[in-house]
Amino acid sequence: MVIGAQWGDEGKGKITDLLSRSADLVVRYQGGVNAGHTIVVDGRVLKLHLIPSGILYGDTLCLIGAGTVVDPKVLIAELDMLLENNIDTSGLKLASNAHVTMPYHRLLDKALEHDRGLRRIGTTGRGIGPTYADKSERSGIRVLDLLDPHGLADQLQPVIRQKNDLLQTLYGLEPLDPESVIKEYIAYGQRLAPHVVDGTRTIHTAAQNRKNLLFEGAQGTLLDLDHGTYPYVTSSNPVAGGACIGAGVGPTMIDRVIGVAKAYTTRVGEGPFPSELQGDLNHHLTDRGGEFGTTTGRRRRCGWFDGVIGRYAVQVNGIDCLAITKLDVLDELAEIKVCIAYELDGEVIHDFPIDARQFARCQPIFKTLPGWQMDTSTCRALEDLPANALDYLSELADLLQASIAMVSLGPERDQTILVEDPIHGPKRGLLSH
Ligand code: IMP
Repeated sequence: MVIGAQWGDEGKGKITDLLSRSADLVVRYQGGVNAGHTIVVDGRVLKLHLIPSGILYGDTLCLIGAGTVVDPKVLIAELDMLLENNIDTSGLKLASNAHVTMPYHRLLDKALEHDRGLRRIGTTGRGIGPTYADKSERSGIRVLDLLDPHGLADQLQPVIRQKNDLLQTLYGLEPLDPESVIKEYIAYGQRLAPHVVDGTRTIHTAAQNRKNLLFEGAQGTLLDLDHGTYPYVTSSNPVAGGACIGAGVGPTMIDRVIGVAKAYTTRVGEGPFPSELQGDLNHHLTDRGGEFGTTTGRRRRCGWFDGVIGRYAVQVNGIDCLAITKLDVLDELAEIKVCIAYELDGEVIHDFPIDARQFARCQPIFKTLPGWQMDTSTCRALEDLPANALDYLSELADLLQASIAMVSLGPERDQTILVEDPIHGPKRGLLSH
């Protein structure tokens, strides 16, 4: 399983893409089109929001699992984009019980954010929160509903009536036309029908046939609805445990958890971020690291690597080994800081405080390390790395008490150092003392 150990955008797409090579089935288990993977293959830049990047390997099945929320319009656009690039999409499977993002979810997401004013979350505006809210409230529309035109019309009429009430009276917005929404979604159902499966059965059939399964988390640990920096979180569970619920597997089925963390930290949207940088250094990392959202194009906030949240991520996910990405982005810096602890109301703390108000008061305590000021993007083995870069990686492994199995030094597949086999390697590896 691959999960994000920070606030999302850790470079999971590239790591999943590399590991998908040996996977027979890749499963996405939560989130929706708020996620975005940018994958570079032979110089071609492909942006995916919902479809696991495993689709690029012709014989890998990719399942969008029950715990995801699916915006069919975006999914179809993604399928079209892949087809235009001559990529076979027949391996894409869509769990029939995944929930569907409807136009009123997108409108309500934006209206709610607007209403929150200064307390806004900074959502992606893709309707994620309202889709999950309807799922919990049991008025959601599922993929299987799109396949039954008459049933869909009956189901949607009262829901749209109620949503229109909200949109008009509470937010002063134009109502939706129920007939055109129903027609639009019936057409989506027809287009997606060949991909729809019983997701749980697909997973367990693969497992019984001793196939390799790869679970792909979207967003990151600190955006987890239960374990993240609530309320500045997404509405699903990106942590490793989310895969059990979202895919329909028991914890005993997960052999290995690979945590992906950037060599520094980024965050999009609002919420506390203790190791955040201001000024020139922030801009340097944003520009050098291309830190602009795949989904919204927003500039990501940048900061130093945060060992406190990293350690927390290792704990709540049960991370076996780490993939550290974008090390090359730090190449030019003369010195690099790492947040090793926080100061909270005059006390030094080493553990992540779950209360967002306390977290907002945390001041970072940094350790300063010398930079390496050398191009690492062409390094292909640990021995090629400058000594200071190796020391930096050791520092991260020590802080997080986890071994580093992979180091990524650029967007291309081959810009990667494989320190140890992330799937079969030892659980405590070379870089952890
Ligand atoms: P939502 O998921 O659109 O509701 O947004 C909630 C929070 O999660 C906001 O701060 C978003 O910026 C953040 N978020 C959602 N998806 C991603 C992602 O894929 N990467 C980084 N941040 C994300």
